[in-house]
Amino acid sequence: MSTIILGIESSCDDTSAAVISDGVLLSNVIASQAVHEAYGGVVPELASRAHQQNIVPVVSEAIKRAGIKPEDLSAIAFTRGPGLMGSLLVGLSFAKGLASALQIPMIEVNHLQGHVMAHFVLEKDNIDKPLPKYPFLCLLVSGGNSQIIKVMSYKEMEVIGQTIDDAAGEAFDKCAKVMGLGYPGGPVIDRLAKEGDPNRFKFAKPHIQGLNYSFSGLKTSFLYTLRDAIKENPNFIEENKADLCASLQKTIVDILMDKVRKAVKETGIREVAVAGGVSANSGVRNAFTEHARKYGWTIHLPKFSFTTDNAAMIAIVGQYKYLDRDFCKFDAPAFARVENNIR
Ligand code: KG4
Repeated sequence: MSTIILGIESSCDDTSAAVISDGVLLSNVIASQAVHEAYGGVVPELASRAHQQNIVPVVSEAIKRAGIKPEDLSAIAFTRGPGLMGSLLVGLSFAKGLASALQIPMIEVNHLQGHVMAHFVLEKDNIDKPLPKYPFLCLLVSGGNSQIIKVMSYKEMEVIGQTIDDAAGEAFDKCAKVMGLGYPGGPVIDRLAKEGDPNRFKFAKPHIQGLNYSFSGLKTSFLYTLRDAIKENPNFIEENKADLCASLQKTIVDILMDKVRKAVKETGIREVAVAGGVSANSGVRNAFTEHARKYGWTIHLPKFSFTTDNAAMIAIVGQYKYLDRDFCKFDAPAFARVENNIR
């Protein structure tokens, strides 16, 4: 009999539900929340309210698109954290209600583990895709995280480097904000960067020990460049937007890749994946392809629909945990922050 898992993701500003049957994705529905655009960032209280509005239609749609009935489900996997507490509680509470009504087990999933394991989601038209081989390294870069993770198995992951301040996505978004490019700014910078000169401006790069990251110095250096230039020419940003975006993107990608190269050298692992919202960035993807060619790495770039928050990645972890009978209690809590060793 096949295993059918419903995944629910509600850690930040996307409400998502997905159905996976024996590792193969049957549906993946995502409702993004436009309400935050006006504020230039995610407003936690508005996010949890939007999750409450979205959760029933999103789960219903995922079950419908999968062509199954709720009674066919083997278990429900949900994101337990890290994330916004109010948002997490909506997904968690819904999962509890549905699982107890259907009398099926619940499976808690670490959001970061989900991002890494998104590489293992199979799709009907891509059943034979090459999966990462353990152990591999994963650069996880999103709006809230920048980490290098050593992945020994689906349940054994060690964070070997991480940001000590801003995340890479935050650096994109905050610099975009000061240029008046809207929120989230990462995709806009990516688009504008394609028309600009990446070597026109030089911004500060951090000197951080080990495999950790820092992006706050880059942000300050970017701000100072703009402040000084605007004094001379009030139209500076408008006239130099593409070059600013291209130079900023190049700097962020260089900072990320310097530490990934170092991690490969230190661990001897040349199987390298990238995950999270910023893995959609064309500069990041090109750098990975270039490194694979130059240094003989085997790389894994996620499909665009699996870069941002999605429930397919929660359901796939649920699938693995189900096979290990790793269920949680019905009074399982949510966690805003999760410890370093991802389980
Ligand atoms: O994983 P994600 O959806 O969730 C959060 O952690 O919030 O990541 C969102 C982040 C945002 O900072 C967004 O600007 C960034 O990913 N992002 C990008 C691109 N697409 C999304 N950054 C750079 N280039 C992109 N193409």
